[in-house]
Amino acid sequence: MKPSTWLDASIARAVAGTSRLAAVAKDFPHIVDRGAWQFTSDGVWTGGFWAGCLWLAAQHGGAAELRAQAVAATERLLPHVHDTRNHDLGFMFHPSAVAAWRATGDVRYLGAAKTAAASLAAQFDAKAGYIPGWGFFGGEEWRGSVLVDTLMNLPLLVLAARHGGGAGLLDVVRAQVATTLDHHLRADGSVYHVYRFDPATHAALGGATYQGLDAESAWSRGQAWAIAGLAILASMLGDAAYRGASGRVADYFLAHLPPDSVPPWDFKAPAGAPKDASAGAIAAYGLLRLYELTDKQRWLDAAVRLVRGLRDACENQGEGVGLLLHATADLPHGLGVDGATMYGDYYWFKTLVRLRQVIATHHLDALLGLPA
Ligand code: GLY
Repeated sequence: MKPSTWLDASIARAVAGTSRLAAVAKDFPHIVDRGAWQFTSDGVWTGGFWAGCLWLAAQHGGAAELRAQAVAATERLLPHVHDTRNHDLGFMFHPSAVAAWRATGDVRYLGAAKTAAASLAAQFDAKAGYIPGWGFFGGEEWRGSVLVDTLMNLPLLVLAARHGGGAGLLDVVRAQVATTLDHHLRADGSVYHVYRFDPATHAALGGATYQGLDAESAWSRGQAWAIAGLAILASMLGDAAYRGASGRVADYFLAHLPPDSVPPWDFKAPAGAPKDASAGAIAAYGLLRLYELTDKQRWLDAAVRLVRGLRDACENQGEGVGLLLHATADLPHGLGVDGATMYGDYYWFKTLVRLRQVIATHHLDALLGLPA
């Protein structure tokens, strides 16, 4: 049956695109580079998003075999719950194991999520007050680097704490957020991608970047991770300061969006630079969470503006690879420039589904009448 609204049509395209990829993917799709998906056998940090897309497709009209594929992808990630060198265990196991637990009721998946949370918390350096990034790269040089992205991994700790994982997990969450708000958040509402500390003395050294234009720039995906991560944590913990900080980064993000509402890969990049649609999708998800928290119309308007802009300029409405085109994985290192990414696809799909729920809960049916 033909979907009756623009939003249902986009959800149907996300289901169809995920199904097409599921029919050929033997490993975990990671990023699209030069027109083709790059796959990983272990899921590195993005495998959870693939499992998450499969769960979403199974739950929103996909064929019956998608559920079995979602289970298989989730199961394949489970050995990594013990990985104490990966700071992205929230990305890996929230969309996979937590989604599997919610979909099936099987507490083995909740147990796996709790083990992953313990492995993430084990990476917390209590003397320093942070979880360093990129342990999986190895080497000493990363021990003092703290990433704004890590905020998005913390909801796994909150969930685990709520299910008997121990209150110490919440101490880790509080300390990591405090470090991020004290050091990454700038006065203008933008955030550093990385903040560096001396790994021996823990002295603060200054802001830096890995995937952004330069240390003082505003890497758009980093801004988006901050908006969404802080909004989710604010909603889980009822914390007004986290909500306010999410709103400040959102204000920066929205004030710097170009007229097509698709963020450039870095807000300080020269005009005409490649886009990062994944940053738009992640930010839209965060804005929806802010709207749900505050009931403020401007957050909903902004989320809809982003979703409509992405739909018009970046949604794959054909048969090729990816759900959301014109994302940029890592421009400084020449990886996945102007392609699709598994995180962009996942947050695009998740945002569409969340917007559908928000419209239903808040009786916003007029939004469904926007032009197809
Ligand atoms: N968390 C890494 C990235 O956004 O590329």
